[in-house]
Amino acid sequence: MAEFFLPKNSTIGAGKTHKAAPGAKRVKRFKIYRYDPDSGKNPHYDNFEVDLDECGPMVLDALIKIKSEQDSSLTFRRSCREGICGSCSMNMGGKNGLACTTAIDDLKGDIRITPLPHMDVIKDLVPDFTHFYAQYASIEPWLKTKTPDPSGKERLQSPDDRAKLDGLYECILCACCSTSCPSYWWNSDRFLGPAILLQAYRWLADSRDEYTGERLDELEDPFRLYRCHTIMNCANVCPKGLNPAKAIAETKKMLVERAV
Ligand code: SF4
Ligand code: SF4
Ligand code: FES
Repeated sequence: MAEFFLPKNSTIGAGKTHKAAPGAKRVKRFKIYRYDPDSGKNPHYDNFEVDLDECGPMVLDALIKIKSEQDSSLTFRRSCREGICGSCSMNMGGKNGLACTTAIDDLKGDIRITPLPHMDVIKDLVPDFTHFYAQYASIEPWLKTKTPDPSGKERLQSPDDRAKLDGLYECILCACCSTSCPSYWWNSDRFLGPAILLQAYRWLADSRDEYTGERLDELEDPFRLYRCHTIMNCANVCPKGLNPAKAIAETKKMLVERAV
């Protein structure tokens, strides 16, 4: 794998190998990125041999087994273990995904695991999402209105208008898409990236929101929106099957339509 898949400032050294228990028949080797910025040491890979006959089927099962039985200092995020919370996103075998929904059997040979590419690393497989969440906050991801609620109780939406949010609301903000987007790698300081742009479109597409013009004004910028060059990595990796590139194209279309 090319060097640019490694997290920033990475010079990789060799680490320890943790063997599977004697007699294990179905052994899989995981090569896992280790980095503790507080240690003053360079990042390295440790190798862990896991007996698949004693392990659940997903990559997250193997990570939990490694942490429980071989090295309790291994650090990664996880919560729901069923593809809902988005916290176990990482790069496995060269592709971003969720460790809890990625089957070990689908990854051939030794499995290399790194944090999401081009993110600063807090420790081991835990990337720093501070900038990503600040970008999310910048699009004001909530319903914004100017007029009083007509019913006095709630803002209604027709079934057809509600259906326009399908393929948008399901995003779990795992950042698999943004961190596999070459434009985001090189311009993440100013380009919002596919995850945040999909979220921005989710509010543009909401029939109840009354700030469409202002939201489009915020996006109409050579960097925030227009660094997307339709490379489509985002749609290829999304573990929820979403298509951020399509949402970005729809946003560009709205900008063209309001200009004529
Ligand atoms: S389609 Fe756009 S947002 Fe998606 S990976 Fe490509 S450049 Fe990035
Ligand atoms: S669009 Fe998909 S890959 Fe991107 S943050 Fe949302 S769920 Fe994750
Ligand atoms: S643990 Fe929640 S998405 Fe994987």
